[in-house]
Amino acid sequence: MKNILVTGGLGFIGSHTCVELINSNFNPIIIDNLDNSEIWIKERIERIAGQTVTFYQGDCRDKGLLDQIFTDNQISGIIHFAAYKAVGESVDEPLKYYDNNLGGLTAILEVSQKHGCSNLVFSSSCTVYGTPDSLPVNETAQIKDAESPYGTTKIICEKIIQDLVKSVPSYKSILLRYFNPIGAHESSLIGELPLGLPSNLVPFITQTAVGIRESLTVFGNNYDTKDGSCVRDFIHVTDLANAHIKALEFLLDKNEGTCEAVNIGTGNGNTVLELISTFEKVSGQRLNYSIGERREGDVEAVYADAKKSQDLLEWQAKISLEQSLRDAWNWQKTLEK
Ligand code: UD1
Repeated sequence: MKNILVTGGLGFIGSHTCVELINSNFNPIIIDNLDNSEIWIKERIERIAGQTVTFYQGDCRDKGLLDQIFTDNQISGIIHFAAYKAVGESVDEPLKYYDNNLGGLTAILEVSQKHGCSNLVFSSSCTVYGTPDSLPVNETAQIKDAESPYGTTKIICEKIIQDLVKSVPSYKSILLRYFNPIGAHESSLIGELPLGLPSNLVPFITQTAVGIRESLTVFGNNYDTKDGSCVRDFIHVTDLANAHIKALEFLLDKNEGTCEAVNIGTGNGNTVLELISTFEKVSGQRLNYSIGERREGDVEAVYADAKKSQDLLEWQAKISLEQSLRDAWNWQKTLEK
């Protein structure tokens, strides 16, 4: 069984990916500093998967610890999730974002290289496209200046990896550009755990429905879209997790260096208002919401051209929007108010 180092493996996407790794006969080795995750998620992963997982508490910038992990375990590949991701916070504290997101990546690259491991799946984001010139957006679209330091870190990290692959021709990497991950594991044992006031839409919806928040504000209904609210490509986190397995298998099978950016989305766009009405339908709850001002920095519409993921990785999203929202709701109901 191949060992795969999963940085940020107790986070939202990381935890679901660990479950899918085990389902696919890989052995995840987790490093997580618990900055934006909880230790009990480890036991939940173990409960779902029916086996224990190896866990190191620590920071990805800690090269000594990384070196120890690579010495203790024969690592065949890396999935690098660990990073800060709050857009608003990144505007207020840019250095924190550059230090952690860039420093974590360069440390991983340096130490993995030293140990002869050259397979890296990197968590990127559709944020690198900014406002795309055409939709659906494909991977050849121009990379735009990001609206936030968070977005800039994703662009720079992609560039760092591309430059490394140029200088070390045997290095192999897939840059996964995620669209909007939602939902939770079907068991309702793991899911998203927003810290404080959620900035993402779906946790805000489910927290409002359960009574933690009084009301949801829809940020703008005067965009040039079918109902005036923004359009996004919402993808179930389990589908997204499985894309990592496909990307990893692609890298492990490949005999020469490579660096490919791949969109991971459903290929469908849904508006914020459609999402709300679908949530109301599947949950049987009426959602208290009102229309507010546009949120600064929001893109009017973005959804994936999902062709490359099918052609290169033989992966496509399978889980419906209804099921994604049902899973998000079931997860929310398991959390204490
Ligand atoms: C955001 C980030 C993006 C990041 C992604 C990760 C911004 C500008 N972008 O994407 O870089 O990769 O999260 O998940 O923050 N909405 C409301 N009311 C709310 C919350 C959201 O109407 O209370 C709307 C937003 O205006 C947007 C849509 O819901 O149109 C989705 O918002 P969100 O979940 O924050 O994701 P993105 O902004 O697409």
